[in-house]
Amino acid sequence: MALPPDFLDELRARTPLPGLIGRRTRLLRSGRNWKACCPFHSEKSPSFHVYDDHYHCFGCGAHGDAITFVMQTEGASFLEAVERLAAEAGLEVPKPSAREAERERERRDLHGVLAAAAEASARRLFAPEGAEARAYLRRRGVSEESIARFGLGWSGDGRGGLVAELARQGIAPEQMEQAGLLRRREDGSLAEAFFNRVMFPIRDRRGRVIGFGGRTLGDAQPKYVNSPETPLFAKRRSLYGLDLAREAAFRGARVVVVEGYLDVIALDQAGRGGTPAFAPVAPLGTALTEEQLEEIWRLSPEPVLCFDGDVAGARAAARAAELALPRLAPERSLRLAALPAGEDPDTLVAKGGAAAFAEHLAKARPLHEALYDLLAEGRSLARPEDRAALRRSLEQAAARIADRALSAEYRRALLDRFFRETRPGAVRRAAPRPPPPPIRPEAARNDRARCLLALAMAHPWLLAQGGDEVLAGLDLPDGPAADLRSALLAWLGQADRLDSAALADHLHALGRADLLGWAQRFAGLPAAARPGADAQPAEAVDAWWHFAGLLRGEATLLADLEAARERWLATGRAEDGERFQRLARLREALRRGEGESA
Ligand code: UTP
Ligand code: MN
Repeated sequence: MALPPDFLDELRARTPLPGLIGRRTRLLRSGRNWKACCPFHSEKSPSFHVYDDHYHCFGCGAHGDAITFVMQTEGASFLEAVERLAAEAGLEVPKPSAREAERERERRDLHGVLAAAAEASARRLFAPEGAEARAYLRRRGVSEESIARFGLGWSGDGRGGLVAELARQGIAPEQMEQAGLLRRREDGSLAEAFFNRVMFPIRDRRGRVIGFGGRTLGDAQPKYVNSPETPLFAKRRSLYGLDLAREAAFRGARVVVVEGYLDVIALDQAGRGGTPAFAPVAPLGTALTEEQLEEIWRLSPEPVLCFDGDVAGARAAARAAELALPRLAPERSLRLAALPAGEDPDTLVAKGGAAAFAEHLAKARPLHEALYDLLAEGRSLARPEDRAALRRSLEQAAARIADRALSAEYRRALLDRFFRETRPGAVRRAAPRPPPPPIRPEAARNDRARCLLALAMAHPWLLAQGGDEVLAGLDLPDGPAADLRSALLAWLGQADRLDSAALADHLHALGRADLLGWAQRFAGLPAAARPGADAQPAEAVDAWWHFAGLLRGEATLLADLEAARERWLATGRAEDGERFQRLARLREALRRGEGESA
């Protein structure tokens, strides 16, 4: 029985892996993730790593998500595992009904409609009619690379061009309305929802377009229009930049929550080049919601929320703190950064680059400090009554934290500072602000590169199926990983037999047999990468794309795919068509590797 992917996504989202796995084996912190002695083979030192949406054992190659974990530890079938987890998460497993299947098909169709609209508007941006919008983006400092990365586009002038273009692709007006691209006027006729606007596709966590924001080029009001709520798009559950931030956060970038579309783009752009510095996301023009906060905590245990340093910013910060308090836990906290009044991340970056923003980020205050400031702000503490009132509100704030131990710690931290600052003769001084700890994602990257390259060596045909291009584009650590890649790609161009033995001979002949050992003598290789492993091709493809995806990020693969499609459309050449098909198939394999096959 096929379960709706949305349900499975929700189930995974509501099943924190550390909680599930922590019942079987003792977890130890490892950066922002966890590691443990592997529950699937016996070992003394921990090589079983738990990330927020999957686990991987570098010892025995065990690998999967919450559902496969239950299958593997309890011998459950897929459906049994889903039912068990759903019961725990308080979710009902949807019954397979014709209606449900129909809805699922509709959602899939809507994804297609939105993808087509995003493509069409991206094309228009580079057509003559997009010239003014291109100039606008250039003035705002948005690079060509960012335009491509965020899929920015031009809506057209509202005289039906976009609709006609989609209609030519067989999309009915009703579907366009359902996707939020057309809206119904009072007289019942349909009008384009976006015109004369720069289009900002809003994507879900997996990079699928679910809606749009559209900005005017001038001062027309409203400045932005956004898609209406649709079966795919719920403002309160979506975050701008989420798909790219997931990847950056995975590579160790700092998760920051900002206000605007252009802030996300400016930070992403400023922090790029090598290891990304920032993983920015923004809510869609409303105050942060509970659902968004939960999604952000899946990226980082301590995201930084940025606010304007003015009164409205302080109010927004207080509201966010209020929202977070009952949900805090030792691995679910926040920092708050106040930006200078009148500046946003976009203007800071425009003036002083990534460094100007990083400086304010380094001064972000841990939640308990910020909370104290928010509650004490503007109060006189002259009379005993004033002091008692502040003390009570501090105690009440701590009491709102459901996690008992953390609530007690907050109470203590807030009251300690209260007593320090209300002691007779005390000088009020800002608390010291320690910079966030450095994050070192390089070791994990190196291990992943080793797995990937070992897979390519065990199954060189992977490279001939489009893998070479992706491999060439990866940002691999210098040293053996980069050397081995060069050797592989050079060999591929001249090999007459794509098999492991020929490849090994080639490395020996080059005098680089050390690279063989580097990749293959690694305890953490997935089963399909072990030399001589007799793996099914599908297994090798899935494993290869899993590691390529981790190293590259699905969002970038999506961009590869889009670029290939563009080229094919432009040239119409058969080999470009084949290349596009190959990438599409491989990306599907990556998705299956994520556990989507059921
Ligand atoms: P801002 O007014 O701060 O705009 O709104 P901005 O993102 O900095 O854009 P620029 O720099 O002026 O171009 C912050 C966010 O609020 C939402 C959008 O999501 C925007 O990014 N918003 C704002 C709307 O939805 N509608 C509006 O009319 C204005
Ligand atoms: Mn702005």
